[in-house]
Amino acid sequence: MPIETVELRNVSKRFPGVLANDQVNFDVHAGEIHALLGENGAGKSTLMKILYAMYRPTEGEIFINGKLAELRSPADALANGIGMIHQHFQLVPGFTVVENVALGLKSSRGPLTDLDVVTKRVQELATQYGLSVEPNALVWQLAVGQQQRVEIIKALYRDASLLILDEPTAVLTPQEVKEFFDILRRLRDAGNALIFISHKLYEVMAISDRVTVLRDGRVVGRVKTADTNQKELARMMVGRDVITRWDKPPAQQGPVVLKIEHLSAANDKGITAVRDFSLEVRAGEILGIAGVSGNGQRELAEAIAGMRRATAGTIWVDNQNVTNQSPAQVSASGVAFVPEERMTMGVVREFTVAENAILETHAYPPLANRGVFDFGQINDHCTRLVREYDVKTPSLDTPVKSLSGGNIQKLILARELDRAPRLLLAAQPTRGVDIGATEYIHKRLIEQRANGTAVLLISEDLEEVRALSDRIAVMYEGQIVGIVSPDSKMEDLGLMMAGIKGNDANPSTC
Ligand SMILES: Nc1ncnc2c1ncn2[C@@H]1O[C@H](COP(=O)(O)OP(=O)(O)OP(=O)(O)O)[C@@H](O)[C@H]1O
Ligand SMILES: [Mg+2]
Repeated sequence: MPIETVELRNVSKRFPGVLANDQVNFDVHAGEIHALLGENGAGKSTLMKILYAMYRPTEGEIFINGKLAELRSPADALANGIGMIHQHFQLVPGFTVVENVALGLKSSRGPLTDLDVVTKRVQELATQYGLSVEPNALVWQLAVGQQQRVEIIKALYRDASLLILDEPTAVLTPQEVKEFFDILRRLRDAGNALIFISHKLYEVMAISDRVTVLRDGRVVGRVKTADTNQKELARMMVGRDVITRWDKPPAQQGPVVLKIEHLSAANDKGITAVRDFSLEVRAGEILGIAGVSGNGQRELAEAIAGMRRATAGTIWVDNQNVTNQSPAQVSASGVAFVPEERMTMGVVREFTVAENAILETHAYPPLANRGVFDFGQINDHCTRLVREYDVKTPSLDTPVKSLSGGNIQKLILARELDRAPRLLLAAQPTRGVDIGATEYIHKRLIEQRANGTAVLLISEDLEEVRALSDRIAVMYEGQIVGIVSPDSKMEDLGLMMAGIKGNDANPSTC
Protein backbone atom coordinates (compact mmCIF):
# COMPACT_ATOMS: atom_id res chain seq x y z
CA MET A 1 0.00 0.00 0.00
CA PRO A 2 1.45 3.40 -0.91
CA ILE A 3 2.37 5.76 1.88
CA GLU A 4 -0.13 8.46 2.79
CA THR A 5 1.54 9.71 5.95
CA VAL A 6 4.53 8.81 8.03
CA GLU A 7 4.88 10.19 11.53
CA LEU A 8 7.72 10.11 14.01
CA ARG A 9 6.47 10.64 17.56
CA ASN A 10 8.71 11.71 20.43
CA VAL A 11 11.77 10.12 18.91
CA SER A 12 15.03 10.33 20.87
CA LYS A 13 18.39 8.82 20.07
CA ARG A 14 21.29 8.72 22.48
CA PHE A 15 24.86 7.96 21.43
CA PRO A 16 27.70 7.84 23.97
CA GLY A 17 28.06 11.43 25.14
CA VAL A 18 25.47 12.86 22.70
CA LEU A 19 21.71 13.20 22.62
CA ALA A 20 21.44 13.29 18.80
CA ASN A 21 17.62 13.46 18.72
CA ASP A 22 15.57 14.78 21.59
CA GLN A 23 11.80 14.12 21.61
CA VAL A 24 11.41 14.85 17.90
CA ASN A 25 7.98 14.96 16.26
CA PHE A 26 8.03 14.93 12.47
CA ASP A 27 5.61 13.99 9.74
CA VAL A 28 5.51 13.83 5.96
CA HIS A 29 2.62 13.28 3.54
CA ALA A 30 2.09 11.93 0.05
CA GLY A 31 2.44 14.74 -2.49
CA GLU A 32 4.76 16.79 -0.27
CA ILE A 33 8.45 17.68 -0.22
CA HIS A 34 9.40 18.24 3.41
CA ALA A 35 12.80 19.84 3.96
CA LEU A 36 14.86 19.11 7.05
CA LEU A 37 17.27 21.87 8.02
CA GLY A 38 19.82 22.28 10.75
CA GLU A 39 23.44 22.95 11.52
CA ASN A 40 26.10 20.29 11.25
CA GLY A 41 25.46 17.78 14.01
CA ALA A 42 21.86 18.92 14.60
CA GLY A 43 20.65 15.34 14.18
CA LYS A 44 19.17 15.26 10.66
CA SER A 45 20.92 12.14 9.38
CA THR A 46 20.34 10.33 12.65
CA LEU A 47 16.60 11.02 12.48
CA MET A 48 16.47 9.74 8.90
CA LYS A 49 18.48 6.65 9.77
CA ILE A 50 15.92 5.90 12.46
CA LEU A 51 13.10 6.24 9.94
CA TYR A 52 14.98 3.93 7.56
CA ALA A 53 15.57 1.53 10.47
CA MET A 54 19.35 1.68 10.31
CA TYR A 55 19.22 2.77 13.96
CA ARG A 56 16.74 1.83 16.67
CA PRO A 57 15.46 4.87 18.50
CA THR A 58 16.27 5.11 22.20
CA GLU A 59 12.67 6.26 22.65
CA GLY A 60 9.70 7.03 20.44
CA GLU A 61 7.55 5.50 17.74
CA ILE A 62 6.97 5.52 14.00
CA PHE A 63 3.48 5.48 12.50
CA ILE A 64 2.84 4.64 8.87
CA ASN A 65 -0.61 5.57 7.56
CA GLY A 66 -1.71 5.96 11.17
CA LYS A 67 -0.58 2.51 12.27
CA LEU A 68 2.31 1.81 14.62
CA ALA A 69 5.16 0.30 12.61
CA GLU A 70 7.88 -1.97 13.96
CA LEU A 71 10.73 -1.50 11.52
CA ARG A 72 13.64 -3.82 12.28
CA SER A 73 15.91 -3.23 9.31
CA PRO A 74 16.26 -1.17 6.14
CA ALA A 75 14.80 -4.14 4.24
CA ASP A 76 11.77 -3.86 6.51
CA ALA A 77 11.53 -0.11 5.90
CA LEU A 78 11.69 -0.68 2.14
CA ALA A 79 9.00 -3.35 2.36
CA ASN A 80 6.87 -0.65 4.00
CA GLY A 81 7.50 1.81 1.17
CA ILE A 82 10.36 3.82 2.68
CA GLY A 83 13.47 4.30 0.53
CA MET A 84 16.64 6.20 1.35
CA ILE A 85 19.14 7.60 -1.12
CA HIS A 86 22.45 7.71 0.65
CA GLN A 87 25.07 10.29 0.03
CA HIS A 88 27.64 7.62 -0.59
CA PHE A 89 26.06 5.51 -3.24
CA GLN A 90 25.78 1.79 -2.71
CA LEU A 91 26.13 0.66 -6.31
CA VAL A 92 28.46 -1.96 -7.78
CA PRO A 93 30.71 -0.03 -10.19
CA GLY A 94 31.45 -2.98 -12.48
CA PHE A 95 27.74 -3.82 -13.02
CA THR A 96 25.38 -2.19 -15.48
CA VAL A 97 22.50 0.04 -14.41
CA VAL A 98 20.02 -2.78 -14.88
CA GLU A 99 22.18 -5.31 -13.03
CA ASN A 100 22.43 -2.89 -10.13
CA VAL A 101 18.67 -2.45 -10.02
CA ALA A 102 18.16 -6.21 -10.22
CA LEU A 103 20.67 -6.92 -7.47
CA GLY A 104 18.92 -8.48 -4.49
CA LEU A 105 15.52 -8.71 -6.18
CA LYS A 106 13.68 -11.94 -5.62
CA SER A 107 12.63 -13.61 -8.83
CA SER A 108 9.64 -15.84 -9.30
CA ARG A 109 11.62 -17.89 -11.79
CA GLY A 110 14.65 -19.28 -10.05
CA PRO A 111 17.74 -17.52 -8.77
CA LEU A 112 18.28 -15.27 -11.76
CA THR A 113 16.04 -12.29 -12.36
CA ASP A 114 14.99 -11.80 -15.96
CA LEU A 115 17.05 -8.77 -16.96
CA ASP A 116 14.79 -7.95 -19.91
CA VAL A 117 11.87 -7.49 -17.56
CA VAL A 118 13.98 -5.26 -15.33
CA THR A 119 15.22 -3.25 -18.31
CA LYS A 120 11.67 -2.59 -19.45
CA ARG A 121 10.55 -1.39 -16.04
CA VAL A 122 13.70 0.75 -15.64
CA GLN A 123 12.90 2.44 -18.94
CA GLU A 124 9.30 3.02 -17.86
CA LEU A 125 10.38 4.63 -14.60
CA ALA A 126 13.00 6.68 -16.43
CA THR A 127 10.43 8.04 -18.87
CA GLN A 128 7.79 8.65 -16.24
CA TYR A 129 10.02 10.75 -13.98
CA GLY A 130 12.66 12.10 -16.35
CA LEU A 131 15.33 9.88 -14.78
CA SER A 132 17.13 9.44 -18.05
CA VAL A 133 19.97 6.96 -17.84
CA GLU A 134 21.31 4.33 -20.24
CA PRO A 135 20.16 0.92 -18.83
CA ASN A 136 23.14 -1.00 -20.17
CA ALA A 137 25.84 1.50 -19.17
CA LEU A 138 28.36 0.37 -16.59
CA VAL A 139 27.89 2.31 -13.38
CA TRP A 140 31.53 3.40 -13.08
CA GLN A 141 31.23 5.14 -16.43
CA LEU A 142 28.33 7.29 -15.25
CA ALA A 143 28.62 10.81 -13.88
CA VAL A 144 27.75 11.21 -10.21
CA GLY A 145 24.39 12.76 -11.07
CA GLN A 146 23.46 9.74 -13.16
CA GLN A 147 24.53 7.32 -10.43
CA GLN A 148 22.18 9.17 -8.13
CA ARG A 149 19.36 8.57 -10.61
CA VAL A 150 20.15 4.87 -10.54
CA GLU A 151 19.77 4.91 -6.75
CA ILE A 152 16.38 6.58 -7.10
CA ILE A 153 15.27 4.11 -9.77
CA LYS A 154 16.38 1.28 -7.49
CA ALA A 155 14.15 2.56 -4.70
CA LEU A 156 11.18 3.20 -7.00
CA TYR A 157 11.56 -0.26 -8.52
CA ARG A 158 11.01 -1.64 -5.05
CA ASP A 159 7.83 0.43 -4.74
CA ALA A 160 9.18 3.01 -2.33
CA SER A 161 6.69 5.87 -2.09
CA LEU A 162 8.57 7.84 0.58
CA LEU A 163 12.04 8.86 -0.51
CA ILE A 164 14.57 10.17 1.99
CA LEU A 165 17.22 12.29 0.29
CA ASP A 166 20.14 13.15 2.59
CA GLU A 167 22.09 16.06 1.04
CA PRO A 168 21.48 14.84 -2.52
CA THR A 169 22.56 18.10 -4.12
CA ALA A 170 25.95 18.23 -2.40
CA VAL A 171 27.41 16.07 -5.17
CA LEU A 172 25.63 17.80 -8.07
CA THR A 173 26.69 20.66 -10.30
CA PRO A 174 24.32 23.66 -10.51
CA GLN A 175 23.03 22.42 -13.89
CA GLU A 176 22.41 18.96 -12.49
CA VAL A 177 20.54 20.44 -9.52
CA LYS A 178 18.04 22.05 -11.89
CA GLU A 179 17.31 18.75 -13.62
CA PHE A 180 17.22 16.98 -10.27
CA PHE A 181 14.58 19.38 -8.96
CA ASP A 182 12.43 18.68 -12.02
CA ILE A 183 12.64 15.00 -11.15
CA LEU A 184 11.68 15.68 -7.53
CA ARG A 185 8.67 17.73 -8.61
CA ARG A 186 7.49 14.94 -10.88
CA LEU A 187 7.89 12.42 -8.07
CA ARG A 188 5.91 14.64 -5.72
CA ASP A 189 3.18 15.38 -8.23
CA ALA A 190 2.78 11.65 -8.83
CA GLY A 191 1.85 11.30 -5.14
CA ASN A 192 5.14 10.33 -3.53
CA ALA A 193 6.34 11.77 -0.24
CA LEU A 194 9.85 13.20 -0.13
CA ILE A 195 12.19 14.30 2.64
CA PHE A 196 14.93 16.62 1.45
CA ILE A 197 18.04 17.61 3.42
CA SER A 198 20.31 20.43 2.28
CA HIS A 199 22.45 23.20 3.71
CA LYS A 200 21.58 25.48 0.81
CA LEU A 201 18.69 27.67 1.86
CA TYR A 202 17.84 28.77 -1.68
CA GLU A 203 17.42 25.12 -2.61
CA VAL A 204 15.10 24.56 0.32
CA MET A 205 13.09 27.65 -0.70
CA ALA A 206 12.96 26.49 -4.32
CA ILE A 207 11.90 22.88 -3.86
CA SER A 208 10.13 22.28 -0.55
CA ASP A 209 6.53 22.64 0.61
CA ARG A 210 7.30 22.61 4.33
CA VAL A 211 10.45 23.02 6.40
CA THR A 212 11.34 21.57 9.79
CA VAL A 213 14.36 23.04 11.56
CA LEU A 214 16.41 21.04 14.05
CA ARG A 215 18.85 22.51 16.52
CA ASP A 216 20.85 20.36 18.96
CA GLY A 217 18.58 17.41 18.26
CA ARG A 218 15.33 19.28 18.95
CA VAL A 219 12.70 20.67 16.61
CA VAL A 220 12.91 24.46 16.89
CA GLY A 221 10.56 25.39 14.08
CA ARG A 222 8.21 24.16 11.40
CA VAL A 223 6.89 26.43 8.66
CA LYS A 224 5.26 26.34 5.28
CA THR A 225 7.88 27.30 2.72
CA ALA A 226 5.50 29.84 1.17
CA ASP A 227 5.31 31.65 4.52
CA THR A 228 9.05 32.04 5.12
CA ASN A 229 12.29 33.27 3.56
CA GLN A 230 16.01 32.48 3.67
CA LYS A 231 16.77 35.02 6.32
CA GLU A 232 14.17 33.67 8.71
CA LEU A 233 15.29 30.09 8.13
CA ALA A 234 18.91 31.06 8.79
CA ARG A 235 17.91 32.73 12.02
CA MET A 236 15.91 29.69 13.13
CA MET A 237 18.85 27.39 12.42
CA VAL A 238 21.64 29.41 13.94
CA GLY A 239 19.79 31.66 16.36
CA ARG A 240 21.25 34.87 14.86
CA ASP A 241 21.68 36.67 11.53
CA VAL A 242 24.29 35.27 9.17
CA ILE A 243 26.65 37.30 6.96
CA THR A 244 26.64 36.26 3.31
CA ARG A 245 28.32 39.29 1.75
CA TRP A 246 31.78 40.46 2.71
CA ASP A 247 33.33 43.88 2.39
CA LYS A 248 36.93 43.02 1.66
CA PRO A 249 39.67 45.62 1.67
CA PRO A 250 41.45 45.84 -1.71
CA ALA A 251 43.99 43.07 -2.27
CA GLN A 252 47.58 43.82 -1.19
CA GLN A 253 49.22 41.67 -3.81
CA GLY A 254 52.72 40.46 -3.11
CA PRO A 255 55.11 38.32 -5.15
CA VAL A 256 53.99 35.31 -7.18
CA VAL A 257 53.70 32.32 -4.86
CA LEU A 258 52.21 29.72 -7.17
CA LYS A 259 53.37 29.55 -10.74
CA ILE A 260 52.07 26.84 -13.04
CA GLU A 261 53.61 26.45 -16.49
CA HIS A 262 52.14 24.27 -19.22
CA LEU A 263 50.86 21.68 -16.77
CA SER A 264 49.12 18.52 -17.99
CA ALA A 265 47.67 15.70 -15.90
CA ALA A 266 45.37 12.74 -16.51
CA ASN A 267 42.23 11.74 -14.61
CA ASP A 268 41.63 8.34 -12.98
CA LYS A 269 40.58 6.87 -16.29
CA GLY A 270 43.89 7.90 -17.87
CA ILE A 271 42.37 10.65 -19.99
CA THR A 272 44.05 14.06 -20.07
CA ALA A 273 42.07 16.27 -17.71
CA VAL A 274 44.43 19.24 -17.29
CA ARG A 275 46.02 20.32 -20.56
CA ASP A 276 48.80 22.82 -21.08
CA PHE A 277 47.57 24.84 -18.13
CA SER A 278 49.36 28.00 -16.97
CA LEU A 279 48.47 30.28 -14.07
CA GLU A 280 50.00 32.53 -11.43
CA VAL A 281 48.64 33.27 -7.97
CA ARG A 282 50.18 36.03 -5.90
CA ALA A 283 50.60 36.43 -2.16
CA GLY A 284 47.63 38.27 -0.70
CA GLU A 285 45.09 37.42 -3.38
CA ILE A 286 42.29 34.93 -3.70
CA LEU A 287 42.15 33.48 -7.16
CA GLY A 288 38.90 31.65 -7.72
CA ILE A 289 38.57 28.86 -10.23
CA ALA A 290 35.03 28.61 -11.52
CA GLY A 291 33.83 25.80 -13.71
CA VAL A 292 31.43 22.95 -14.01
CA SER A 293 32.90 20.02 -12.11
CA GLY A 294 34.70 17.46 -14.21
CA ASN A 295 36.61 20.05 -16.20
CA GLY A 296 39.91 19.24 -14.56
CA GLN A 297 39.65 21.30 -11.37
CA ARG A 298 40.07 18.33 -9.13
CA GLU A 299 43.04 16.92 -11.07
CA LEU A 300 44.63 20.37 -11.05
CA ALA A 301 44.41 20.65 -7.28
CA GLU A 302 45.69 17.12 -6.76
CA ALA A 303 48.62 17.69 -9.13
CA ILE A 304 49.63 20.81 -7.21
CA ALA A 305 49.32 18.98 -3.90
CA GLY A 306 51.54 16.13 -5.08
CA MET A 307 48.70 13.62 -5.06
CA ARG A 308 48.53 13.19 -8.83
CA ARG A 309 51.34 12.92 -11.35
CA ALA A 310 51.95 15.80 -13.72
CA THR A 311 52.50 14.37 -17.20
CA ALA A 312 54.00 17.63 -18.47
CA GLY A 313 54.81 21.11 -17.22
CA THR A 314 56.16 22.65 -14.05
CA ILE A 315 54.70 23.79 -10.74
CA TRP A 316 56.61 26.37 -8.69
CA VAL A 317 55.85 27.39 -5.11
CA ASP A 318 57.93 30.36 -3.95
CA ASN A 319 60.34 29.73 -6.83
CA GLN A 320 60.85 26.16 -5.69
CA ASN A 321 60.07 23.46 -8.21
CA VAL A 322 57.57 21.10 -6.54
CA THR A 323 56.46 19.20 -9.64
CA ASN A 324 55.81 15.54 -8.85
CA GLN A 325 57.07 15.76 -5.30
CA SER A 326 55.39 13.72 -2.59
CA PRO A 327 52.41 15.23 -0.73
CA ALA A 328 54.61 15.51 2.38
CA GLN A 329 57.28 17.44 0.47
CA VAL A 330 54.72 19.78 -1.08
CA SER A 331 53.14 20.29 2.33
CA ALA A 332 56.57 21.10 3.80
CA SER A 333 56.98 23.78 1.10
CA GLY A 334 54.11 25.63 2.75
CA VAL A 335 51.15 24.31 0.80
CA ALA A 336 47.93 23.56 2.70
CA PHE A 337 45.34 21.48 0.90
CA VAL A 338 41.63 21.16 1.61
CA PRO A 339 40.67 18.36 -0.80
CA GLU A 340 37.29 18.00 -2.42
CA GLU A 341 37.14 14.33 -1.45
CA ARG A 342 37.51 15.06 2.23
CA MET A 343 35.95 11.87 3.52
CA THR A 344 38.59 9.70 1.88
CA MET A 345 41.57 11.98 1.33
CA GLY A 346 41.28 14.30 4.29
CA VAL A 347 40.96 12.08 7.33
CA VAL A 348 41.75 8.67 8.72
CA ARG A 349 38.29 7.57 9.79
CA GLU A 350 39.41 5.16 12.50
CA PHE A 351 41.65 7.78 14.15
CA THR A 352 40.41 10.09 16.87
CA VAL A 353 39.56 13.75 16.48
CA ALA A 354 42.87 14.74 18.08
CA GLU A 355 44.91 12.41 15.87
CA ASN A 356 43.24 13.76 12.76
CA ALA A 357 43.67 17.34 13.90
CA ILE A 358 47.45 16.93 13.96
CA LEU A 359 47.93 14.77 10.85
CA GLU A 360 50.74 16.38 8.82
CA THR A 361 51.70 18.93 11.45
CA HIS A 362 52.54 16.50 14.23
CA ALA A 363 56.18 16.04 13.32
CA TYR A 364 57.04 19.71 13.78
CA PRO A 365 57.43 21.99 16.80
CA PRO A 366 55.60 22.97 18.89
CA LEU A 367 53.71 19.67 18.86
CA ALA A 368 56.88 17.61 18.78
CA ASN A 369 60.48 18.28 19.63
CA ARG A 370 63.17 16.16 18.01
CA GLY A 371 60.60 13.46 17.39
CA VAL A 372 59.11 13.42 20.89
CA PHE A 373 55.42 14.31 21.20
CA ASP A 374 54.43 17.02 23.61
CA PHE A 375 51.02 15.77 24.70
CA GLY A 376 50.19 18.88 26.70
CA GLN A 377 50.74 21.04 23.61
CA ILE A 378 48.82 18.64 21.42
CA ASN A 379 45.88 18.72 23.78
CA ASP A 380 45.84 22.53 23.99
CA HIS A 381 46.21 22.84 20.24
CA CYS A 382 43.38 20.44 19.46
CA THR A 383 41.10 21.93 22.09
CA ARG A 384 41.60 25.35 20.51
CA LEU A 385 40.95 24.08 16.96
CA VAL A 386 37.77 22.30 17.99
CA ARG A 387 36.55 25.38 19.84
CA GLU A 388 37.43 27.96 17.21
CA TYR A 389 36.00 26.00 14.33
CA ASP A 390 33.02 24.84 16.35
CA VAL A 391 33.58 21.14 15.68
CA LYS A 392 30.82 19.31 17.53
CA THR A 393 32.38 16.29 19.19
CA PRO A 394 31.88 14.66 22.59
CA SER A 395 35.66 14.62 23.16
CA LEU A 396 39.05 14.75 21.47
CA ASP A 397 39.26 10.96 21.79
CA THR A 398 36.10 10.29 19.75
CA PRO A 399 36.81 8.41 16.51
CA VAL A 400 36.24 10.73 13.57
CA LYS A 401 33.87 8.29 11.88
CA SER A 402 31.19 8.95 14.50
CA LEU A 403 31.11 12.72 13.86
CA SER A 404 28.44 14.16 11.56
CA GLY A 405 29.50 14.76 7.96
CA GLY A 406 29.82 18.51 8.28
CA ASN A 407 31.80 18.30 11.48
CA ILE A 408 34.40 16.10 9.80
CA GLN A 409 34.71 18.79 7.12
CA LYS A 410 35.17 21.49 9.75
CA LEU A 411 37.92 19.50 11.46
CA ILE A 412 39.95 19.24 8.23
CA LEU A 413 39.46 22.91 7.52
CA ALA A 414 40.59 23.74 11.04
CA ARG A 415 43.77 21.74 10.58
CA GLU A 416 44.64 23.16 7.17
CA LEU A 417 43.64 26.79 7.68
CA ASP A 418 45.39 26.98 11.00
CA ARG A 419 48.81 26.32 9.50
CA ALA A 420 49.50 29.83 8.12
CA PRO A 421 50.52 28.34 4.77
CA ARG A 422 52.20 30.17 1.86
CA LEU A 423 49.69 28.69 -0.53
CA LEU A 424 46.24 27.51 0.41
CA LEU A 425 44.47 25.19 -2.01
CA ALA A 426 40.82 25.04 -1.05
CA ALA A 427 38.56 22.79 -3.11
CA GLN A 428 34.82 23.17 -2.46
CA PRO A 429 35.64 24.39 1.07
CA THR A 430 32.04 24.84 2.18
CA ARG A 431 30.39 21.84 0.56
CA GLY A 432 28.30 20.02 3.14
CA VAL A 433 29.03 22.68 5.75
CA ASP A 434 26.22 24.58 7.48
CA ILE A 435 25.63 28.29 7.00
CA GLY A 436 27.20 29.37 10.27
CA ALA A 437 30.36 27.41 9.50
CA THR A 438 30.34 28.69 5.91
CA GLU A 439 30.39 32.23 7.24
CA TYR A 440 33.30 31.34 9.50
CA ILE A 441 35.29 29.63 6.74
CA HIS A 442 34.80 32.60 4.42
CA LYS A 443 36.05 34.87 7.16
CA ARG A 444 39.14 32.71 7.62
CA LEU A 445 39.89 32.65 3.88
CA ILE A 446 39.75 36.46 3.81
CA GLU A 447 42.00 36.54 6.87
CA GLN A 448 44.52 34.29 5.11
CA ARG A 449 44.50 36.71 2.20
CA ALA A 450 45.13 39.64 4.53
CA ASN A 451 48.05 37.73 6.05
CA GLY A 452 49.69 37.40 2.65
CA THR A 453 48.76 33.81 1.82
CA ALA A 454 48.15 33.02 -1.84
CA VAL A 455 44.73 31.39 -1.98
CA LEU A 456 43.56 29.19 -4.82
CA LEU A 457 39.84 28.66 -4.33
CA ILE A 458 38.13 26.01 -6.41
CA SER A 459 34.37 26.06 -6.12
CA GLU A 460 31.27 25.23 -8.09
CA ASP A 461 29.32 27.70 -6.03
CA LEU A 462 29.42 30.82 -8.18
CA GLU A 463 28.09 32.99 -5.36
CA GLU A 464 31.00 31.86 -3.23
CA VAL A 465 33.59 32.42 -5.96
CA ARG A 466 32.26 35.88 -6.68
CA ALA A 467 32.01 36.88 -3.04
CA LEU A 468 35.58 35.90 -2.19
CA SER A 469 37.80 36.14 -5.26
CA ASP A 470 39.97 39.00 -6.48
CA ARG A 471 40.22 37.37 -9.90
CA ILE A 472 38.21 34.52 -11.36
CA ALA A 473 39.72 32.01 -13.78
CA VAL A 474 37.08 30.03 -15.65
CA MET A 475 38.11 26.48 -16.40
CA TYR A 476 36.71 24.40 -19.22
CA GLU A 477 38.00 21.08 -20.52
CA GLY A 478 41.27 21.31 -18.64
CA GLN A 479 42.12 24.86 -19.66
CA ILE A 480 41.46 28.42 -18.63
CA VAL A 481 39.02 30.04 -21.02
CA GLY A 482 39.41 33.44 -19.44
CA ILE A 483 40.33 35.39 -16.33
CA VAL A 484 37.68 37.89 -15.29
CA SER A 485 36.81 40.24 -12.48
CA PRO A 486 34.44 39.07 -9.72
CA ASP A 487 32.01 41.79 -10.83
CA SER A 488 31.42 40.01 -14.14
CA LYS A 489 27.84 39.18 -14.90
CA MET A 490 26.54 35.77 -13.86
CA GLU A 491 25.36 35.08 -17.42
CA ASP A 492 28.81 35.79 -18.85
CA LEU A 493 30.42 33.51 -16.31
CA GLY A 494 27.84 30.84 -17.10
CA LEU A 495 28.58 31.05 -20.82
CA MET A 496 32.31 30.82 -20.22
CA MET A 497 31.78 27.82 -17.94
CA ALA A 498 29.89 26.15 -20.76
CA GLY A 499 32.84 26.82 -23.06
CA ILE A 500 30.74 29.10 -25.26
CA LYS A 501 32.42 32.38 -24.60
CA GLY A 502 36.07 33.29 -23.97
CA ASN A 503 37.51 36.36 -22.36
CA ASP A 504 38.00 39.16 -24.90
CA ALA A 505 40.68 40.77 -22.81
CA ASN A 506 42.69 37.60 -22.77
CA PRO A 507 42.10 35.87 -26.10
CA SER A 508 45.37 33.97 -26.07
CA THR A 509 44.05 31.66 -23.38
CA CYS A 510 40.86 30.79 -25.25
N1 LIG B 1 27.10 6.35 14.91
C1 LIG B 1 27.30 7.35 15.77
N2 LIG B 1 27.97 7.19 16.93
C2 LIG B 1 28.14 8.19 17.80
N3 LIG B 1 27.69 9.46 17.61
C3 LIG B 1 27.02 9.70 16.48
C4 LIG B 1 26.79 8.67 15.49
N4 LIG B 1 26.09 9.21 14.47
C5 LIG B 1 25.91 10.50 14.78
N5 LIG B 1 26.45 10.81 15.98
C6 LIG B 1 26.40 12.11 16.66
O1 LIG B 1 25.05 12.56 16.67
C7 LIG B 1 24.97 13.96 16.39
C8 LIG B 1 24.06 14.18 15.20
O2 LIG B 1 24.71 13.71 14.03
P1 LIG B 1 24.00 13.69 12.61
O3 LIG B 1 24.89 12.95 11.70
O4 LIG B 1 22.61 13.22 12.76
O5 LIG B 1 24.01 15.26 12.26
P2 LIG B 1 23.51 16.00 10.93
O6 LIG B 1 22.45 16.96 11.34
O7 LIG B 1 23.18 15.01 9.89
O8 LIG B 1 24.82 16.86 10.55
P3 LIG B 1 25.50 17.19 9.11
O9 LIG B 1 24.80 18.40 8.60
O10 LIG B 1 26.90 17.53 9.49
O11 LIG B 1 25.39 15.99 8.25
C9 LIG B 1 26.39 14.44 16.18
O12 LIG B 1 26.84 15.02 17.39
C10 LIG B 1 27.17 13.18 15.88
O13 LIG B 1 28.50 13.29 16.32
MG1 LIG C 1 24.05 14.51 8.02
